Amino acid sequence: MKGSIKEPHIHIKNDRQPALQAAVTELAAGQPIPLPTEPVYGLAADATNPAAIARIYETKGRPQFNPLICHMADIAMAERYAIFDPISLDLAEAFWPGPLTLVLPLKPASDIHALATAGLDTVGIRVPQGFAGDLIRRFGKPLAAPGANSSGKINPPSAAHVEADLGQKINLILDGGAASVGVESTIVKVEEGGKVRLLRPGGVVTAEIERVAGKRLERSEKASAAIEAPGMLASHYAPGAAVRLNATSVSPGEALIRFEGIPVAGEETARAVFDLSPSGDLSEAAANLFDYLKAADASGADSIAITSIPTHGLGEAINDRLSRAAAPRS
Ligand code: TXA
Ligand code: MG
Repeated sequence: MKGSIKEPHIHIKNDRQPALQAAVTELAAGQPIPLPTEPVYGLAADATNPAAIARIYETKGRPQFNPLICHMADIAMAERYAIFDPISLDLAEAFWPGPLTLVLPLKPASDIHALATAGLDTVGIRVPQGFAGDLIRRFGKPLAAPGANSSGKINPPSAAHVEADLGQKINLILDGGAASVGVESTIVKVEEGGKVRLLRPGGVVTAEIERVAGKRLERSEKASAAIEAPGMLASHYAPGAAVRLNATSVSPGEALIRFEGIPVAGEETARAVFDLSPSGDLSEAAANLFDYLKAADASGADSIAITSIPTHGLGEAINDRLSRAAAPRS
C-alpha cells in the first residue's frame, strides 16, 4: 500500500472509461479498490490473487478471515467457478444483476483462492449491477469484496464515507454516487434436498425469493446465535487432524507449520513441514494459511503442530483462524 499520498478521486458518471482503466490497473497490480455496488461500497480485489486478498484484510484491519463474496460479471462467468443446482439458477436468472448472493459449491478446478473462501468448498457469488459489473467484465476475473469499511465501522453508503475512512490506505476513490439499496445483499444457500436457507436478510426481500424458488425459506436460529464454539461454525473451515498451537517441538509423524524460517526440534521426523513465510512477512503468511492447513491435513498426519505466530497486524486474523482450527470438536 502506498500510504499517505491522496490519489485520484474519479466520478464514474463523468469519467467512466478513465475510471474503468484506473480500476483495472490497480486490480492487476494486486491492490484493493473501492467498488461502488448497489447495496454498499465494497473493497474489491482479484479473488484469484492471495496477496491482493490479504491486502483487503490489512486495509480493513479486520481481525478475522471470513468467507468473502466473489463478484462476477454474469451467470456464464459464475458457472466457470461454481456448480449451480436448478433452484439457484432460477434465483440467479431472476435477481442478477442485483443484491442477491448465492452460496454454491466451488468447482474443483476453480482458481478462486482459499483466502477468499476462508478455505470452504463453497463460494458466495453475486453479480452486481452497473459499473461494478462492467469492471469485472473488463478485468476478466472475479472480485472478492467485503464492505469498504474499517473493521467495526458501518458499511459505507457513499464514496465520501470510503474516502474519510480508508482514503489514506488506498490509491483510488471511485465515486459512483450513493449506494441505491443501502443494505447488504440477501444471502441464500440451496441445501442438498432442495431446501433454501436464508443466511442473511438483505436487499432482495424474502417473499420475492420464495416466489421464485416456489418454497418457503429455511431460517435457522443458528445463523443469528451469538455464541457458537469456535471452529464449530458451519461456515468455517476446520482441518480433520487435531491442531496443537504454540508448539516448540514436533513429534514423529505430526505435520508442522512454522513461521519465519525458524527450525523446530524434531522436524526431521515430521510427516510434512510448511513455513507460512520464511521471511516473516504476515501478508505472505495469510496468503499461505489455508493452503498449508489443508496440505498439512492431507499429509495424513493425525496432528498438526503450529508454532506461535506474531499477533500484530494480520497476525491477529491468522491467530483467530488458528485458534478456531484448534478448538475441540464433538
Ligand atoms: O452487499 C454485499 O453483499 C456487499 C457488497 C460489497 O457486495 N458485500 C458484503 O460482504 O456484504 P461481507 O464480506 O460483508 O459479507 C459476506 C458474508 C459473510 O457474512 C459471510 O459469512 C457470507 O457472506 N459468506 C460468503 N461466502 C460464504 C460461504 N461460502 N458460505 C457461507 N457464507 C458465506
Ligand atoms: Mg459486511
